[in-house]
Amino acid sequence: MTDATTHDAPETATGPAGMVRVWDPLVRIFHWGLVAAFTAAWLTADDWQIAHEVAGYTVAGLVAFRLVWGLAGSRHARFAGFLKGPGETLAYIGEMARGRERRYLGHNPAGAAMVVALLLTLSGTAFSGWLMADETRVAMLPDMPAIVAPAWADDDGDAHGARGDVEGALEEVHESLANLMLLLAALHVGGVVLASFRHHENLARAMVTGAKRAAGPGDIA
Ligand code: HEM
Ligand code: HEM
Repeated sequence: MTDATTHDAPETATGPAGMVRVWDPLVRIFHWGLVAAFTAAWLTADDWQIAHEVAGYTVAGLVAFRLVWGLAGSRHARFAGFLKGPGETLAYIGEMARGRERRYLGHNPAGAAMVVALLLTLSGTAFSGWLMADETRVAMLPDMPAIVAPAWADDDGDAHGARGDVEGALEEVHESLANLMLLLAALHVGGVVLASFRHHENLARAMVTGAKRAAGPGDIA
C-alpha cells in the first residue's frame, strides 16, 4: 500500500499469511458498541426511560466519534477514501445486479452509501429523542410554519396548543426514524451477507478481527 500516515495499519504486517489489517481497533469497537447501544435503545424504548436515554446518548456519542474518525482515522476508516458520488455508486449497484461487481478491501460504494444513511438516520433519531425528552428543548425550535403544524397535530392537539402539536409530531418523527433504522440495519446486514457469499469471505468476522484477505488481481485496495 502506498498510503503511509503514521497511524495507518501496515497492511502487509498483520495476521496469518495472505491476510491484511483493514479495520482499525477503534472502527471495530465503534461498530460493535453501536450495535449494542442501538439494540439497548430499542429494547428499552417505552419501558425503561433512563436506560433508553443513556443508550440513545451512547449512540450519539459513538456517531460523533465516527465523524471525527472519518476525517482523522486510519486508511479504510476515512470518508475521503470510501465515499463515492451517485454515478459511481449506481454503476456499482448495476454491476452487483449483473453479478460482476469487484471486490473492495474497504467499503464498496453501496456499503459506503449505507454507512452514510445509517449515520444520518442514527443522528436524526438521537436528536429527535433529545428534543423530546425535555420541553424546554422543544421551545428552542423555530415556530412551525402554520401550514405544517395543523397537519401534524394529535387528535387532541388543541388541548396542548401549538407546542403540544410539535411534541406529538416529534414523537412521530422519532419513532419513524427508529423504524427506518431497523429497515436500514436489515438491509445493511443483508448486504454484508450477500457480499460475504459473493467474495467468499466472512465480512462479519473481519469486523471482529480487523483482517481480510489481501487484495488479489481485479480487487480494489
Ligand atoms: C449483527 C449484525 C451486524 C453485522 C454482522 C454487521 C457487520 C458489518 C460489517 C461486516 C461492516 C463492514 C462492511 C464492509 O465490509 O464494507 C459493517 C459496517 C458498519 N455497520 Fe454493521 N453490522 C451489523 C449491525 C449493524 C447495526 C445494527 C448498525 C447500526 C446501528 C451497523 C452500523 C454499521 C456502520 C455505521 C458501519 C460502518 C463502519 C465504519 O466504517 O465505521 N451495523 N457492519
Ligand atoms: C438513537 C437511538 C434511539 C432509538 C433507536 C430510539 C428508539 C425509540 C423508539 C422505537 C421509541 C418509541 C417507543 C414507543 O412509544 O413505542 C422511542 C421513544 C422515546 N425515546 Fe427514543 N430512541 C433513541 C434515542 C433517544 C434519545 C437520545 C432520547 C432522549 C434523550 C430518547 C427519548 C425518547 C422518548 C422521551 C421517547 C418517548 C417515550 C414515551 O413516552 O413513549 N430516545 N425511542
